[in-house]
Amino acid sequence: MSLSSSLLFSAISVTIFLVLFSYRVDSQPVLDSDEQESAYRVLESVNSEVPWRALFPGDLCSSAPHGVVCEFFEEQNDAVEVHITELSFGFVSDYSPNPPCTADSTINPLLYAFKHLRKIFFYKCFTGAQVSVPDFSVYGSSLEEISFVENPSLTGVLGGKLGNSTSLRRLVLTGTNVSGEIPVGLGDLVNLEQITLSRNKFSGEVALNFSKLKQLKLLDLSENGFEGEVPESIGGLTELLKVDLSENQFSGKIPESLKNLKNLEFLDLGYNHFANFGIPLFLAEMPRLREVHLSGNFLGGQIPEIWKSLRGIQGIGLSGTGLVGNIPASMGFFLRNLSFIGLDNNLLEGTVPEEFGSLESVNEMNLENNKLRGKLPFSPKFAAKMGEKLKLQGNPELCVDEGLRSAKIRGSLGNLKLCRHPYGPSQSLFVGGISVQKASHLLMFLGFLFLLP
Ligand SMILES: *[C@@H]1O[C@H](CO)[C@@H](O)[C@H](O)[C@H]1NC(C)=O
Ligand SMILES: *[C@@H]1O[C@H](CO)[C@@H](O)[C@H](O)[C@H]1NC(C)=O
Ligand SMILES: *[C@@H]1O[C@H](CO)[C@@H](O)[C@H](O)[C@H]1NC(C)=O
Ligand SMILES: *[C@@H]1O[C@H](CO)[C@@H](O)[C@H](O)[C@H]1NC(C)=O
Repeated sequence: MSLSSSLLFSAISVTIFLVLFSYRVDSQPVLDSDEQESAYRVLESVNSEVPWRALFPGDLCSSAPHGVVCEFFEEQNDAVEVHITELSFGFVSDYSPNPPCTADSTINPLLYAFKHLRKIFFYKCFTGAQVSVPDFSVYGSSLEEISFVENPSLTGVLGGKLGNSTSLRRLVLTGTNVSGEIPVGLGDLVNLEQITLSRNKFSGEVALNFSKLKQLKLLDLSENGFEGEVPESIGGLTELLKVDLSENQFSGKIPESLKNLKNLEFLDLGYNHFANFGIPLFLAEMPRLREVHLSGNFLGGQIPEIWKSLRGIQGIGLSGTGLVGNIPASMGFFLRNLSFIGLDNNLLEGTVPEEFGSLESVNEMNLENNKLRGKLPFSPKFAAKMGEKLKLQGNPELCVDEGLRSAKIRGSLGNLKLCRHPYGPSQSLFVGGISVQKASHLLMFLGFLFLLP
């Protein structure tokens, strides 16, 4: 759909909406002329190439470009007024054909003229000259949604700019040049459901008290310069579904209070400076977890036996976390829905558990740069399905059997040596007809049966 046809399409849909609505109101209110003029000016400052006034000469609320949304307000004296409540700029897709921003897009101060604004959205608008973060406090408590996505020239600090936006439900600033600390006052905006502040230039400690943000479902502070400890108050946000604090400089222990997040499905604390004593055991108390990423922090210790409680897990990232000891067979046994596992760049030793060879849903397995040894448990079919996503380099004592070798599968298997007899299973001692290795598997299997509810 071309821009003009999408604009026309949205104009038609606005008209239909108004025709339906006009059965309810006696005389149809029109947009106040000052508000209309402000809308033209703001449109012109994000896109100076479209002749907005000529394309939309009439009442903007009867026929508006996509991205400009009006609503009716019943006033005390029963009069009905119409105001602009949403302004969205930046072409997203044919389904969301907002006015595209030109390279010289700026924020016109007349943006502050819309006192009833609920939603403000800019996508890929500020990419050239620096544009300052607007002062959202002028909207009082009308704003419900602030989204600035991929605006690398949006610059300044957020402190003091959110004011009393007590109705705010979504705060999305991602891919901008916004810096400074997160305002402590954010903790008072009790209706927040989403805080996404990824890929900006924020820094400093996260000093806010999360306790009051009971509606928060999504917290993403990834790829900034945050430091210090994560406030324990994060554990009070029982509605949280997703927490992403990755790629910052958070330090200290991983807060124990996270275990109270019983609905949490996604936890990414990767690539920070957390120094824990091992992988937190409380993960076992978070039954809904689908993904947990702790890579690039110093955890140390052995991989704990917590996987029976985490059977639904689909992604595990424990790369470069200083892990020692063996890979527990229970991971392969219980994690039947596992799609990604990264255990690379640790000090893991022993063999790759037999159970890893039957992980059917796995798409990517990275075991590179450990001290693993012995025969790989993968069938040629499994290895062929995984291809390059089966990563095993940097474990000089790993080997493949004849079957895997002759299958000539591309990827890292090709560089592994052929198992010589001393490492193969045929080397196992026989005890009363079954090998020690088989016996230990049998014991382990019985152990799991015993553990099952
Ligand atoms: C980002 O902000 C800094 C000041 O905080 C400024 O020096 C720099 O030019 C800005 N970058 C862009 C791309 O606007
Ligand atoms: C903030 O907004 C609320 C709700 O509209 C209002 O009750 C309160 O007085 C406002 N506070 C300030 C400091 O403006
Ligand atoms: C956070 O706020 C709650 C109440 O809203 C309070 O009980 C708690 O002590 C505060 N925590 C901190 C660390 O200030
Ligand atoms: C594994 O995935 C299947 C299919 O998506 C799902 O039905 C099942 O509940 C999942 N298992 C667990 C333990 O979450």
